[in-house]
Amino acid sequence: MKKIRDWLWQDRRETGSTNDEAAKLCAAARGEKFIVSAASQTGGRGRRGRAWDSLAGNLFVSFAFPAALKDASRLIFIVSLSLLETVRRLKPGIDVCLKWPNDVLVNGGKVSGILMEKAAGDYMVVGIGVNVAAAPRREDILYPVASLREAGLVIDRLDFLKEYVGVFDDLLAEWKEKGFAPLRERWLANAKNLGKEINVHMEHEDKKGIFNGVDENGALLLETPSGIEKIYAGDIFYLKEKEVK
Ligand code: BTN
Repeated sequence: MKKIRDWLWQDRRETGSTNDEAAKLCAAARGEKFIVSAASQTGGRGRRGRAWDSLAGNLFVSFAFPAALKDASRLIFIVSLSLLETVRRLKPGIDVCLKWPNDVLVNGGKVSGILMEKAAGDYMVVGIGVNVAAAPRREDILYPVASLREAGLVIDRLDFLKEYVGVFDDLLAEWKEKGFAPLRERWLANAKNLGKEINVHMEHEDKKGIFNGVDENGALLLETPSGIEKIYAGDIFYLKEKEVK
């Protein structure tokens, strides 16, 4: 296998899902760290059972490494913050921000997605899709989408990956050294609509409130007339500026 820094890396022409390929490697692993990327996925998976489109030139990649399940909710913030910092490093001044729990928005559109899954042993798999070259345009996608290319950041998917690995390694090291709190602050400093009214769509209900922050485990803090509520899973929808006032 090839390497990116100290990660064992394979790049496939086509695969079902890089998350599944990475999970297979975990079964016989002894502490190694793996990256599986692919030029194309035939069964890419998104959050909440959704499919993830495989558009040519986009990045589909999964990282498999030993990580405690109890850290998963914080790890996902490190992953999205690393994506934001990679984009910014490659194109300073670009309009990029974060949307709870783990989306990166460029020019207000979703440019990436993260799917974290538990694998064998003490391994976690972190799957990342980045719209490097193109954004999916389907009628059933209800949120704005974007690609790096449309935003003026023209880069090969593997060059983006190599840059990302450096940033991700640095933030993992910082997390280990200083704990989650400073990284949570950095995440919040880049969060869209902090302190403003948002709509949270959950499995069985929708809730409106002020986006107050995230707690030490990454749960969304929503200020509602009945107090601060912690939300563990859901999708944020932003209200139009005129409704926010
Ligand atoms: C989301 O719904 O926002 C998460 C999308 C995650 C997609 C990536 S692409 C690489 C990896 N392999 C998959 O099947 N899914 C993830």
